[in-house]
Amino acid sequence: MALRQKKPLDLSAYRVPTHIAIIMDGNGRWAKQRGLPRVAGHRAGAENLRRIINACVEFGVKILTIYAFSTENWGRPESEVRGLMKIFARVLDQELDDLHAQGVCLHHLGDLTGVNPDLQGKVLRALELTKDNDTLILNVAFNYGGRAEIIHAVQQMLADGISPDDLTEDLFSSYLFTKGLPDPDLVIRTSGELRISNFLIWQAAYSEYYPTPAFWPDFGREELYEAIVVYNQRERRFGLVPEES
Ligand code: FPP
Repeated sequence: MALRQKKPLDLSAYRVPTHIAIIMDGNGRWAKQRGLPRVAGHRAGAENLRRIINACVEFGVKILTIYAFSTENWGRPESEVRGLMKIFARVLDQELDDLHAQGVCLHHLGDLTGVNPDLQGKVLRALELTKDNDTLILNVAFNYGGRAEIIHAVQQMLADGISPDDLTEDLFSSYLFTKGLPDPDLVIRTSGELRISNFLIWQAAYSEYYPTPAFWPDFGREELYEAIVVYNQRERRFGLVPEES
């Protein structure tokens, strides 16, 4: 079978967002449309994630944050949760060396306690192996919730004895899982849903939001390109009037 040629996509005339965050939604509906079990949708979603990481490297995106598993997702049927954990473990086993060679630096956002110790070990090894890479930072929000992240930050600040007078937005940000990283410029949500779903609720305060009807497994390189083009048509004002921003 002939290899499919990649369509040339030129972003040289555009500003490429430094940080893109994605709510990868619609795996279940993608599978249902095809008469497949939900976990088949998650497998297709994992394959698509690989394509999107490659596209981010190609387009020069520096930080990609993905919502892989929320604190609420534990409430899904046990077989689906088990299937998802297997997929996360398999992706780490099969893709880590390639991601490392590509210069991807993995970060984890969330809480690893309560996660299967074998998977925890794989995550910690991946973070250690890739920690000095700088082509693309890949933040994986796993067992993550935005409210839980804020509570965690406040607990740490209290434990550190931060005085109320010293509290600034920058100091607060430095207690979040995303410490040291710029806020997302663009938040993409696939599958047509128009909610933020407890994702980066502090960091995305001024992000541009891009909802798309495509289910996550169908949101490929060309769809990411289109999202970046649309981002370029937005005027980011950060609460100011046009001349000031
Ligand atoms: C939402 O679709 C997707 C998830 C809860 C899981 C996301 C996981 C992947 C894309 C697998 C790969 C990820 C990594 C990090 C390897 P949904 O199940 O809510 O879809 P639905 O709304 O159509 O039911």
